[in-house]
Amino acid sequence: MIFFNKKSYNKLNSILFKYSKIFILTDKNVKKHCLLKLFNNAPLLKNSNLIVIKPGEIEKNIYTCIYIWKKIIENKGDRNSLIINFGGGVITDIGGFIASLFKRGIDFINIPTTLLSMCDASIGGKNGIDFYNIKNEIGIFNNPKFILIDISYLETIPKKEFYSGISEIYKHGLIFDYNFWCYLKLNLNKKKEELINEELINIIKKSIYIKKKIFEKDPLEKNLRKILNFGHTIGHSIETCFIKENNPLTHGESIFIGMMCESWISYKMLDLSKKEYNDICNTFLKVPEINIKKNIYKKKNEILSMLIYDKKNKNGKIYFSLLNKIGKCIYNKEIKNNIIEESLKKINKKLIKN
Ligand SMILES: NC(=O)c1ccc[n+]([C@@H]2O[C@H](COP(=O)([O-])OP(=O)(O)OC[C@H]3O[C@@H](n4cnc5c(N)ncnc54)[C@H](O)[C@@H]3O)[C@@H](O)[C@H]2O)c1
Ligand SMILES: [Zn+2]
Repeated sequence: MIFFNKKSYNKLNSILFKYSKIFILTDKNVKKHCLLKLFNNAPLLKNSNLIVIKPGEIEKNIYTCIYIWKKIIENKGDRNSLIINFGGGVITDIGGFIASLFKRGIDFINIPTTLLSMCDASIGGKNGIDFYNIKNEIGIFNNPKFILIDISYLETIPKKEFYSGISEIYKHGLIFDYNFWCYLKLNLNKKKEELINEELINIIKKSIYIKKKIFEKDPLEKNLRKILNFGHTIGHSIETCFIKENNPLTHGESIFIGMMCESWISYKMLDLSKKEYNDICNTFLKVPEINIKKNIYKKKNEILSMLIYDKKNKNGKIYFSLLNKIGKCIYNKEIKNNIIEESLKKINKKLIKN
């Protein structure tokens, strides 16, 4: 269940008394910028146990889990405890995982504070961590008690992170709804301050509606849900290959690049037209504030070697979710390495030129 803005705090306040212990999992940035607002809306939470981790994808690992589990045990967490995951996708991914395994599962609530986690990561029941240099390698499907979305948290989010979040919203249009894609192209290219309003709530709701329509038909990703991975086969590889750089790509930036590469493959191998492919690339190259000017071709061998770990693969073959046209995505399409490499070359030219 998902609740929006002020009303959602009534729901939150009404269930807190049921739990013996409440833990808030967050990161340093979210603590600094958003915690006071959460306490003002839910004063009971001032007495909860705060667990703060460092920000960033690099923290989404098993060592951080061990740190969090220890903190919960030291503070006498029991089966009737609640974990509130308060932050971006890294926090909701790791927090859902922590909660699902602690004493074989305790309740958790997601309060996303980034656009990406509001429109995507906090919804759908996927929780997990990166392991052995592989994105989301260890994880579990499990749903929070509910999700509380308050877009006023977005006021403090860095612009780069805000526009990174738009990647998954665009993805939902590309894979499922041509009209939504057209609407987004016209309406998302504004200043961040202008975008945080009622209309953004409608965009988030539509994005969630599309994601839900897909995952409810296939919660465990045996078939249709794979289309939500559009842009993520190459995108995750790119994200991993740049993670140890000084200025790593955000998840959203990696997915923008991944969607461009996979759109080129869709044009080359399926029915996506050249016009549609160009439309997708031109739209993404114009997204403000993000930094996708990376030489991905220089890392082609590393990117290709990481692809083998994608969860959609079978028998060593690499399978993609690709576009037949904008609004229509297919899954389980095997693509050979030479085509993937060519896509990296084509998109690299666009990224470097831009
Ligand atoms: N489970 C899923 O279905 C799913 C779907 C999409 C993405 N993901 C995962 O989500 C993660 C990316 O999430 P993300 O983009 O939210 O990144 P993130 O959680 O790393 O947050 C981005 C940055 O913004 C900061 N921040 C967050 N909220 C803030 C606020 N309100 N004010 C100021 N700073 C704030 C964080 O500290 C961090 O530095 C990736 O690990 C990705 O794999 C999961
Ligand atoms: Zn994603």
